[in-house]
Amino acid sequence: MLPNVKNMLYSSPELYDEAWAGMVDDIADTIRHVSQTYLTGAPGSILDAGCGTGRDLGELSTYVADCTGVDVQEPMVNYAASQHENITFQVADLRSMELGRQYEFVYCVGLVLSNLHDDNDFHAALSRLAVHTLPGGLFVMEVVNRPEELATDMPCDFTVGSLRGQSVYRMEHGKLIRERLWRSIDDESAEPVRDYVEFRTTSSDEGRAALARHGFEVLQVHDNRLLRPSEELNGWRLVFVARKTSDGAPS
Ligand SMILES: C[S@@+](CC[C@H](N)C(=O)[O-])C[C@H]1O[C@@H](n2cnc3c(N)ncnc32)[C@H](O)[C@@H]1O
Repeated sequence: MLPNVKNMLYSSPELYDEAWAGMVDDIADTIRHVSQTYLTGAPGSILDAGCGTGRDLGELSTYVADCTGVDVQEPMVNYAASQHENITFQVADLRSMELGRQYEFVYCVGLVLSNLHDDNDFHAALSRLAVHTLPGGLFVMEVVNRPEELATDMPCDFTVGSLRGQSVYRMEHGKLIRERLWRSIDDESAEPVRDYVEFRTTSSDEGRAALARHGFEVLQVHDNRLLRPSEELNGWRLVFVARKTSDGAPS
């Protein structure tokens, strides 16, 4: 399902939340900002595709009543449901997702699509995301960027409870490799836990073309979640803001 992924935080969803708590570039703020820019009010409905622990939807549900989160990992979905009773959570693989309805705002952020290395998988997921977006609705997609050189703004160090995680990155054949070691702060003799992930990388041109192919008009592209303008687009991630065309035809 998730080839080449070993991530200690996935086996402990509460640690995942703790690791990312307090990050300044909160996606809930991005979604609110995009809604205010392109919609007349708050979106009527939101789908978080690859919601993990549901932490972003938790914040957004104070703004939008009709919120749904889907994720392929059942433990993440169960944990999310236990934390947010007012939100619908469902186990679904984006490549084959069939929720039987559409949403005014769909977002897929936080390395979800970067787990899909095969082009067919990447496009299958985008196709299902388009099917679940209302005509004229908004879509925010985040991917790992493919800059000329390894970006310098990668998240490297975390402290979670009594564990310190340190990440090292490298590019190999267009993929971004992250190796991360978790060490106990209290017990230096404890065996460290090793994570390993390969991420698909996507250039801004590739992202634009993929979105157009699946019936989205690209409105903005940034290399940060605060949607700060940047000529070079050389940050480690790319954030695309797009609108589904009225007939869903390639734009
Ligand atoms: C790094 S987490 C991000 C979670 C959340 N979006 C966030 O920003 O906190 C990536 C998530 O993508 C999910 N994921 C990966 N491949 C998926 C797929 N094919 N369908 C649905 N979810 C997927 C993983 O299970 C994981 O929870």
